[in-house]
Amino acid sequence: MFKIPPISAERLPSLLRAMPKAELHIHIEGSLEPELIFALAQRNGLTLPYASVDALRSAYAFTNLQSFLDIYYAGASVLLHEQDFYDMARAYLGRAARDNVLHTELFFDPQTHTARGVAMETVINGLHRACHDARAELGISATLILCFLRHLSEESAFETLEQAMPLRDKIVGVGLDSSELGHPPEKFARVFARCRELGLHLVAHAGEEGPPAYIWSALDVLKVERIDHGVQAVHDAALMQRLAQDRIALTVCPLSNQKLCVFPNLADHNLGKLLDAGLAATVNSDDPAYFGGYINENFTQVFAATGLTAKHAYQLAFNSFEASFAGNADKRVWEHKLKEAFERCVEHDY
Ligand code: ADE
Ligand code: ZN
Repeated sequence: MFKIPPISAERLPSLLRAMPKAELHIHIEGSLEPELIFALAQRNGLTLPYASVDALRSAYAFTNLQSFLDIYYAGASVLLHEQDFYDMARAYLGRAARDNVLHTELFFDPQTHTARGVAMETVINGLHRACHDARAELGISATLILCFLRHLSEESAFETLEQAMPLRDKIVGVGLDSSELGHPPEKFARVFARCRELGLHLVAHAGEEGPPAYIWSALDVLKVERIDHGVQAVHDAALMQRLAQDRIALTVCPLSNQKLCVFPNLADHNLGKLLDAGLAATVNSDDPAYFGGYINENFTQVFAATGLTAKHAYQLAFNSFEASFAGNADKRVWEHKLKEAFERCVEHDY
C-alpha cells in the first residue's frame, strides 16, 4: 500500500483538483447545460417553456429525486439528431478532461429518446463517436452504460435491450435509474439475468432514496458489480459488512445528494463514514449541469464540508480506477499516475 505523504490542509483542494481520477456515475443527459439546451432547441426549431437560460436555471430548485427527474427529462427533449448526442457528450468529455478525469463510464437513458421517436442508433452512434474523438483529441478514455428506466416496465426494458443489440459492441454494461421508491430492483430480475448472459457489466442505482433492502436485492437478485449511490447502506450493519467484504464499489454523488435533499446539509454527508468502514466509495457528479458542479467541485465541496483528509482523497481516486470496467493494464498505469500526483504535491509542484 502506498504511504500517503504529509499534505497540509491548504494544499488539499489543489491536490483534489490535480489528482487523476475516474468518473463512474455521470448521466450524460444530466451534463446538458442550459446554454446547450437553448442552442439545441434553436437548431432543432423547438420552443422551450422557459424565456431564457437564466429562467431555466432558476427552475433548478429540487425537493427530492422526482422533482429533479421531471425537469431533467424535459431538458433531454431537445436531443433529436446524432450530432446533438455527439455535441452533448463531447462537451462533457472536454470538461471532465479539465478535471483530470482519465476514464469515465457514461450512463445514458435510451428510453427517454426512443419514446420520442429517436432511433436507438442515433443515440448510441452519436455518444460513441464523441467517446472515440475525445480519446484521440484529449487522451480521455470513455465507455457507455445503457440504463433502463425503472419507472417503466420490464417489458419495455427488454424491448430496449433488443433495439440495442445490433450496437452491442458500443456499450460495456447496463444500469438501472430513474424513480427509485416503489420500483425495487427485483422488478428487473429477468432482463438483468439476460444482460448477464450477454456478458454485459451490471450496475444499478440503489439506496439513493430507497431502503437498504433495495441494495440487497440489487446485489442478490440483479447481481450487480457496483451500486450507484448506496448511501442508505449505513442503516444496515450487515449490509455494510457485505459491501466491505465483497469490495462492492459505491458511486457516491455528494452534490446530488445535497441538492435532492438526501442529506439536509453537505456537512451531514456520510462519505467519510462509508470510507472509514472500509467500503470502496468513489466520488462522482451524477448530473453536473443540474446540481451545481462537475467532479472536482464534488470533491472540493464535500472535503471542505466534512473534513476529509489526503488519505481519503487517495482512497477515493484509487477506488475509482479499481471499480471501473477498464482492463488491468490501464488500471495499473492510472494508479501509477495517481501516486505521482501525490508525490508532486509534496514537492510543491502545484
Ligand atoms: N437519472 C439521472 N439522475 C438520477 C439520479 N440521481 N437517480 C436516479 N435516476 C437518475
Ligand atoms: Zn445517478
